Amino acid sequence: MTQFSGKVALITGTGGGQGRVAALHFARAGAIVVGCDVFTEGHAETQRLLRAEGLELYGAAPVDLGDPDQAQMWVENAFSEHGRIDILYNNASAAKFAPVAEMSVEDWRYTMRNELDLIFYTTKFAWNYLASSKGVVINISSTAAWGGSKVAGISAHSAAKGGVVSFTRQLAVEGAPVGIRAVSISPGFVATPGTRPFLDNPVARKALLDGVLMDRPGEPEEVVAMALFVASSAASFMTGSDIVIDGGLLAI
Ligand SMILES: NC(=O)c1ccc[n+]([C@@H]2O[C@H](COP(=O)([O-])OP(=O)(O)OC[C@H]3O[C@@H](n4cnc5c(N)ncnc54)[C@H](O)[C@@H]3O)[C@@H](O)[C@H]2O)c1
Repeated sequence: MTQFSGKVALITGTGGGQGRVAALHFARAGAIVVGCDVFTEGHAETQRLLRAEGLELYGAAPVDLGDPDQAQMWVENAFSEHGRIDILYNNASAAKFAPVAEMSVEDWRYTMRNELDLIFYTTKFAWNYLASSKGVVINISSTAAWGGSKVAGISAHSAAKGGVVSFTRQLAVEGAPVGIRAVSISPGFVATPGTRPFLDNPVARKALLDGVLMDRPGEPEEVVAMALFVASSAASFMTGSDIVIDGGLLAI
């Protein structure tokens, strides 16, 4: 009997860095993991990695969660195949970066669509199933919700991730009467296959880690460890909070 035996965990962005690690860890902890990604090959690679351990990654790719119909189909298929939804781990996102005066309207809307809208869609469509199972929503925000950046033009990204934190608070308010908990996690810079090229460049690395007390990026496992805790019964009194995991960036 493992920690999440019999629990169904929906994890978005399982083709990416943190989503892949989340899928592995939740499956190792006994959850039935249903993933999705718009990036088909990344999702397939995660599925291969789980199968190599005798585990399974359910779900589908490509799924574009910025399209409400596709988000709804993914959630409904998960429920019809597995009969319940206990954990909704909203991890997927994509953003565009530019100084505010140079940010195109299209890039602003792209960021809102792929960082904020998709969380609304999956949560909306999973809500009644989560209420039935007294489930939990975990939303991945960012330290961009809490501070600006001198390195990159993060106006759209910070607005969207700030929205993720406030959306989560309201989910906690609406969720408490029906037994749903909702928590957001705000990582600082995390090393993933996507961010590795920047970290391998000494100039970019120095700029990106400026102000990080531990002088290193986080690892996906250090974010997923918190998600595993939040999803567990040990966190049963936790809702509406945002947990910052940033190597001390916001401490100064
Ligand atoms: N990597 C970092 O430094 C960092 C820092 C703070 C917060 N975060 C947050 O952590 C989460 C995971 O990011 P990551 O570092 O693993 O990045 P990543 O780019 O490796 O993974 C994100 C995945 O989401 C998928 N995705 C994007 N839009 C989608 C859509 N519309 N439908 C379906 N899938 C979609 C992408 O294809 C990708 O595979 C994100 O919410 C990100 O904003 C990352």
